[in-house]
Amino acid sequence: MSDAVKIGFVPFSAAPKGVLVLFTDESLTFGPASAKILGAAAETVKRAAATSRFKGKSGNSLDILAPANLKVDRLIVAGTGKAGSLKAEDYIRIGGATVGRLKANVDSVMIVAELPDGAMKPDDVAAIASGVRLRAYTFDRYKTKKKDDDARLKADVSIAVADVAAARRAFAPADSVTDGVLVARDLVNEPPNVLYPDEFAKRASQLRKLGVKIEIFDKKAMTKLGMGALLGVAQGSVREGRMVVMRWEGGKKGDKPVAFVGKGVCFDTGGISIKPAGSMEEMKGDMAGAACVVGLMHALAGRKARVNAVGAIGLVENMPDGNAQRPGDIVTTMSGQTIEIINTDAEGRLVLADVLWYVTKTFKPKFIVDLATLTGAIMVALGTEHAGLFSNNDELSERLTLAGRATGEHVWRMPLGPAYDKLIDSKFADMKNTGPRHGGSITAAQLLQRFVDGTPWAHLDIAGTGMGAPSSDINTSFGTGYGVRLLDRLVADHYEAKK
Ligand code: BES
Ligand code: MN
Ligand code: ZN
Repeated sequence: MSDAVKIGFVPFSAAPKGVLVLFTDESLTFGPASAKILGAAAETVKRAAATSRFKGKSGNSLDILAPANLKVDRLIVAGTGKAGSLKAEDYIRIGGATVGRLKANVDSVMIVAELPDGAMKPDDVAAIASGVRLRAYTFDRYKTKKKDDDARLKADVSIAVADVAAARRAFAPADSVTDGVLVARDLVNEPPNVLYPDEFAKRASQLRKLGVKIEIFDKKAMTKLGMGALLGVAQGSVREGRMVVMRWEGGKKGDKPVAFVGKGVCFDTGGISIKPAGSMEEMKGDMAGAACVVGLMHALAGRKARVNAVGAIGLVENMPDGNAQRPGDIVTTMSGQTIEIINTDAEGRLVLADVLWYVTKTFKPKFIVDLATLTGAIMVALGTEHAGLFSNNDELSERLTLAGRATGEHVWRMPLGPAYDKLIDSKFADMKNTGPRHGGSITAAQLLQRFVDGTPWAHLDIAGTGMGAPSSDINTSFGTGYGVRLLDRLVADHYEAKK
């Protein structure tokens, strides 16, 4: 994982050094621990606030170099807005924004986890720590000359808290989830010549170290299962496709699992219906759904979640070689249903059709959530702030929506229905792989729904959120790791056995 910050927790009484970060709000006052650290330097802060018109607004900060009466190199006073206005979901961004204010060449940082009205709660402290790691992440593995300004932050970050043991207890599971997010980002950021289906499967296999059971299906195994749709996409590449099934058994024996399915198109040229050259390099990220599923399994296993969970990913390369599938081809899926290929660039749904069916029939899960960078159309509809949510189940949709609000990984429900479904009926086969241009995200989801056999299911179209989203307080890389925190939260809030 490409982050190099070390996070530790210290008591409020610890001596600050390096860069000191304190929080205030629009009252411009400080909590008792912060006031004690400031001592006589409080006067400096007051004057600096007045001269720079700093009002404690959220996102604004005061930056004082070599402050008098303080043994630190730099003092940052960060605003948090109106007194008492912070919500649980805000803390991760505060951690990220704090790192955003630092330069890479800092050795040590101390963040005092206190607001004017008192010490932050352990879960909020853990969220700040997660935000620090998420923002400090850079994918620079292939840069042989590291310039100063893109060098990653290598600092020791200590977070001063009221209760060190409680902070550590809250941080441990949150840290496994952060690891999972960074695993997902790494996979999305890797170049496609390095990360092709077999290599992706090998990386997913590393979850064995965390106690996850791994099964890898190669071309032969998938042929035996009759996965004609997935294999039809894969056949245009010299690199074979794979399906990886990951199982984490942290729940009661015999308890039905929850299931997650990911689109893992390691590179999407469009196939014979080839894409234009502009930005085609971004199609290395067309496996963000699969990356999220691996990251999520990492998170669940890392924090020993009390749940039985299955993760399944379909890994292929969509290439246009002499053996590639053609528009007009008809493939037979594992379910027996046939699909006429209209556009070879609508490949994700073909891959998912077989993996969804496999998971439905093999595990009879409580529910399936699939994630896929499925359609450009979802970006037209929702931009990069929400993933599209399509579901046959109101309860699951509601839970995902709430988990989205709690984590800042938002989803927005889109419609499904028979009028959309009939748009993919085909003259020659049971269905075709594309409908009309308008409503393209919906008809894509309708096709997926035909392969879950009534299982409670939700599809997240993450084309806008999983990769290439604009930089945020907690991410500056191409891969976002979107979905790991969302789905970890879904599981934690509703599907884990109580202690
Ligand atoms: N992987 C793409 C969707 C995509 C586009 C993801 C841009 C991220 C950014 C998908 O396989 C695709 O090509 N979809 C087509 C479907 C069309 C042919 C019906 C699309 O969206 O144009
Ligand atoms: Mn495509
Ligand atoms: Zn694709």
